[in-house]
Amino acid sequence: MSDYQLFIESIYKKTGLDLSLYKEAQMKRRLTSLCNKRGFASFGPYFQAINKDQQLLQEFLDKVTINVSEFYRNPSRWNVLEKKILPELKKKRSKIRIWSAACSTGEEPYTLAIIANQLWPLAQIEITATDIDPNVLARAKQGIYKDRALQEVPDSIKKKYFHQEGQTFKVDDKLKQTITFQKHNLLADKYPSNMDLIVCRNVLIYFTEEAKHTIYHNFSKALAKDGVFFVGSTEQIFSPEQYDFSVLDTFFYGKASIK
Ligand SMILES: C[S@@+](CC[C@H](N)C(=O)[O-])C[C@H]1O[C@@H](n2cnc3c(N)ncnc32)[C@H](O)[C@@H]1O
Repeated sequence: MSDYQLFIESIYKKTGLDLSLYKEAQMKRRLTSLCNKRGFASFGPYFQAINKDQQLLQEFLDKVTINVSEFYRNPSRWNVLEKKILPELKKKRSKIRIWSAACSTGEEPYTLAIIANQLWPLAQIEITATDIDPNVLARAKQGIYKDRALQEVPDSIKKKYFHQEGQTFKVDDKLKQTITFQKHNLLADKYPSNMDLIVCRNVLIYFTEEAKHTIYHNFSKALAKDGVFFVGSTEQIFSPEQYDFSVLDTFFYGKASIK
């Protein structure tokens, strides 16, 4: 067994995080550079150090879980969601249940709440936002952002849903109340069910084809009839019919019957 494989086995035993389901070349490159930066020539002694030092462990986890996000990431896709996808769902639903999977620091679920609120009252919007990383979830719950994260947010929306204090913006409490943040590992935990919309963007690219295959099946099962799956802008699904998905628009898939 290679040094790297032994390392990922030890990490799995320690943290429950299965790095064998993440694309190897990419992950190995990132971790080799971190390991070397910390002065270790190989993964064996690096694991011994991580095992004893909470700060090194945290740094390692941060490296694995690439957390970048922003409000309205790839704005043209959010426009399709707002103008085409959600109005169709609105015809069939007086209430909407949304799952933002791998939500990072919260920009994505808050964007979802804002956009859904163009069609549903806040009381009829229920968003579950999950991530594997408890640190980003804690920041997401706070809902405080630097203006950089809001560069794609229209001024009228900023005024309506945020409180500005200097360079920072705080999400309004009423919007926050539509969202429940929870820890969830897409590769290991049970999936919720009966979702009208699942948004999972900019994380599947890190997983192996085999892991993605299982995840797509799980997402398909987690959707209600006519539910919609929204993926990231480099994450089109190959042969979506095998998961009971039909293409609604680029990066949007409908569970079987929706057109
Ligand atoms: C690049 S961010 C994407 C954030 C947001 N979805 C977006 O598109 O802006 C990737 C997120 O995936 C999370 N992640 C990585 N592996 C995961 C797993 N196995 N289960 C759940 N979340 C995971 C990371 O913690 C990170 O917050």
